[in-house]
Amino acid sequence: MSVALVILAAGKGTRMNSDLPKVLHSVAAAPLLMHAMRAGEALDPAKVIVVGGFGGEQVEEAALDWNETAEFALQSEQLGTAHAVDQARSHLQDFIGDVIVLYGDTPFIRPETLQSMLQKRADGAAIVVLGFEAEVPGRYGRLIVDDTENLTAIVEAKDATSEDLQVTLCNSGVICADAKTLFDLIAKVGNDNASGEYYLTDIVGLANAEGLGCAAVTCDIAETMGINSRAELAEAEAAFQARARLEAMENGATLTAPETVYFAYDTIVGRDVVIGPNVVFGPDVTIESGATINAFCHLEGCHVSRGAIVGPFARLRPGAELAEFARVGNFVEVKNAQIGEGAKINHLSYVGDADIGPEANIGAGTITCNYDGVMKHRTEIGARAFIGSNTSLVAPVSIGRDAMTGSGSVITKNVPAEALAIARAQQINKEGFAVRLKNRLTALKARKQAEKAD
Ligand code: UD1
Ligand code: MG
Repeated sequence: MSVALVILAAGKGTRMNSDLPKVLHSVAAAPLLMHAMRAGEALDPAKVIVVGGFGGEQVEEAALDWNETAEFALQSEQLGTAHAVDQARSHLQDFIGDVIVLYGDTPFIRPETLQSMLQKRADGAAIVVLGFEAEVPGRYGRLIVDDTENLTAIVEAKDATSEDLQVTLCNSGVICADAKTLFDLIAKVGNDNASGEYYLTDIVGLANAEGLGCAAVTCDIAETMGINSRAELAEAEAAFQARARLEAMENGATLTAPETVYFAYDTIVGRDVVIGPNVVFGPDVTIESGATINAFCHLEGCHVSRGAIVGPFARLRPGAELAEFARVGNFVEVKNAQIGEGAKINHLSYVGDADIGPEANIGAGTITCNYDGVMKHRTEIGARAFIGSNTSLVAPVSIGRDAMTGSGSVITKNVPAEALAIARAQQINKEGFAVRLKNRLTALKARKQAEKAD
């Protein structure tokens, strides 16, 4: 059975108090919208339609950036959730299969939960709604279920009777139905209610009136958390991080101070990895088994192999690839560079757009001068090369295997294998000159002070 996703993301998110559309605010280094798309994409949908309104162009761009096959539907006026889904109608005209409606501001729905909704559909329910038990149901819509487990209606809190309000089974907003049934029912939804909105939730009552059975599937309230304010965004971040830290530890990583480690939505951490305090992961990082990330490191878009040691105070930027047992030490920045097996860059360096051979040793303060103000150029360093401290490598340049550079060199020409390159001013020693110079300057200072006193 084919699946299509319709992701509602038209709301302004007034309470965010932001120029950025709400769904583009980030949790775990990715926009909320992307979390929702990602959960749904685990079902391998045939179509993904994002319904945007406020900041529509930005939302469309972000959606396509994540999934270039996604389609965008504009809801220029926000007249309610049924009206929002209706904007996807033309996109799904010829689609045969199930539609799952997700909210762009609800990032934590698990793929397994969506699977169980599809299963319930396959078992025969015309509409499947995702619900959750809430201790304080507040302003959530209530799921009304009869004693045969049939979902007979969803009642919005604003329109509910005091009896309905006693119900603690709430509507998450996620709905699954066959495309044709969904759009046929939406066409019948009116807006005669307390909000004057077209409620998607009304399709459940309408289906029941037509003799179609509906059902609820439940999940933990944590999955259905929707974000409406900056405070809720921070809560969502905290919830995500708490889960990610536990998961990393369950998978066999040691986190010295878990509450200070921040993961991205896609961070992969192997077994027997040790992560020190205050480490921050941006997107697209893989840490292989047995690697160590010491305190105060920032990593994004990089790959750290088995047995490598990073930090303290290191920064790995996109394209940094550390082979097994490589070492990147304090105040070292690595970008778009392959660091060979067992190679060492231990102190105060910038290595960008470079290939560092196995067992090479990059001395303290070495800089790859990769940018000429217009273009980027590569630096190649062969196996076992020894780069003296404070070497500037003016790219494009290559250092052969087993070669050396003298400390303080500015290397502008290729260095052959096994050669020693020295590119710095010659040292001259002038005997007794230091004392003579000091005496002369002391006398000069005394004369100036005497003149001032006159
Ligand atoms: C909705 C549900 C409610 C449920 C709750 C869960 C309806 C009528 N009510 O209420 O039963 O308990 O979510 O959070 O569906 N949106 C659009 N266009 C619109 C209206 C909404 O894109 O015209 C989007 C919003 O951006 C948001 C989502 O749909 O992401 C839900 O809309 P919202 O106004 O927050 O609905 P609630 O009143 O919370
Ligand atoms: Mg809401």
